[in-house]
Amino acid sequence: MIDLKTFTFFSTLPSREVEKLKKECRFKQYTSGTRILNESEEVKEFILLVEGQVSVIKTHQGKKKTLFTLDPGDTYGEVEMLNGTGALAALIGYMEFQIMFIPKESVLRLVGLYPGFARELRETYSHRAGILLEQGLSKTPFGQIITFFNVKGGAGKSVMSANAAIMLKYFWKKKVVLVDLNLAFGDQSIILNLPTEKNMYELSKIRQPLKIEKIETQLTTHKSGLKVLLSPPLPETAEKIKIELVEQTLDILRANYDFVIVDTQNHLTELELKIIDMSDLVLVMMTMELTFIKNTKLLIDLFGRLKIPRDKIKVVLNRAFKALGLEPSRVETSLRYAISHFIPSEGDIVIPSVNTGDPFVLQPVLAGTPLMLSMERLCRRLVGEDPDKGTWNMFSMVKEVFGM
Ligand SMILES: Nc1ncnc2c1ncn2[C@@H]1O[C@H](COP(=O)(O)OP(=O)(O)O)[C@@H](O)[C@H]1O
Ligand SMILES: [Mg+2]
Repeated sequence: MIDLKTFTFFSTLPSREVEKLKKECRFKQYTSGTRILNESEEVKEFILLVEGQVSVIKTHQGKKKTLFTLDPGDTYGEVEMLNGTGALAALIGYMEFQIMFIPKESVLRLVGLYPGFARELRETYSHRAGILLEQGLSKTPFGQIITFFNVKGGAGKSVMSANAAIMLKYFWKKKVVLVDLNLAFGDQSIILNLPTEKNMYELSKIRQPLKIEKIETQLTTHKSGLKVLLSPPLPETAEKIKIELVEQTLDILRANYDFVIVDTQNHLTELELKIIDMSDLVLVMMTMELTFIKNTKLLIDLFGRLKIPRDKIKVVLNRAFKALGLEPSRVETSLRYAISHFIPSEGDIVIPSVNTGDPFVLQPVLAGTPLMLSMERLCRRLVGEDPDKGTWNMFSMVKEVFGM
């Protein structure tokens, strides 16, 4: 019998899990040319090729097109299984080939138990979804993790993450969860006026394996329909939250929501590095104060040294235009990084909305105001609807490229 541990897919699992898994799975040998999955057929089991070769084929207007081939150790079915769709392509094997069929429940159980396995699966998923998306096959990519971050407080991370999350839920009808990962001093329960009984600390007490149903018992529903995972209610309980739990939670949430919006604390620790690594987009929030400019520049330079992909880091200038003596374009020049979005300063609107726990995006009187237009534009970009999609930059890229 082949040693499954030699396959990357199983490499993060302890041997006893692999042995256990072998017993839960069925193995089948096929002759060359056998079709083992039809397009749009329900994908009940996860497919792992043990021996031989399998082609992933799409038929379009009577023509067959091979999208890619699977080699021993490769899997198929991540996208369909996690998105709950029928098979997006057909699978036909060549040479004598052997398939291991892994029950969906086993895969989900392992995702809950082993963060390394979850990461492996997520990476395969992203890669696969990317290919299928390019072919116009998969319309529902994995949910996006969008993180509001900076190393300095007062940038508007908490207020704007809450309001953007509500907008995506309430106006775009997306499935959205807001996760307050400012673990010791989270503000979302105040900003959204929510009770604190359900929170991340309670979640940490739940027995493994973690599953979406268990996470959902600790989500609080805002009146807009937005789901919120609040931070622990007491600062001293924050340290009980392990990075692995955060990673696992974000992983499971992203498989179940269109958007996972993350609010963070004002420091860069191992936790934030993990969150940034997992995020699809990091919105670095800043204001026009000199101290912000200095720290944001240091932060962006650090991201560069850490080889964090530049296109996932976007700078958002909040409270723009009212600062004296500094123009947004000068901010951009000092940062040597393009500013991707502006949010105007509207103290008369934002501050009372925080104090009353009534998010400003839900106040009908504000429709059409610059603040609302700016938030709408931000959300349009997040859902990929912006007409000038892809060009997040407000000023010219020239500055960024030439450092002028
Ligand atoms: N665009 C804005 N206009 C006016 N006040 C704002 C704006 N954005 C944020 N604020 C205010 O700035 C303060 C800091 O915001 P907060 O979201 O708590 O920042 P952070 O989470 O980054 O520390 C709050 O009092 C908030 O109401
Ligand atoms: Mg905050």
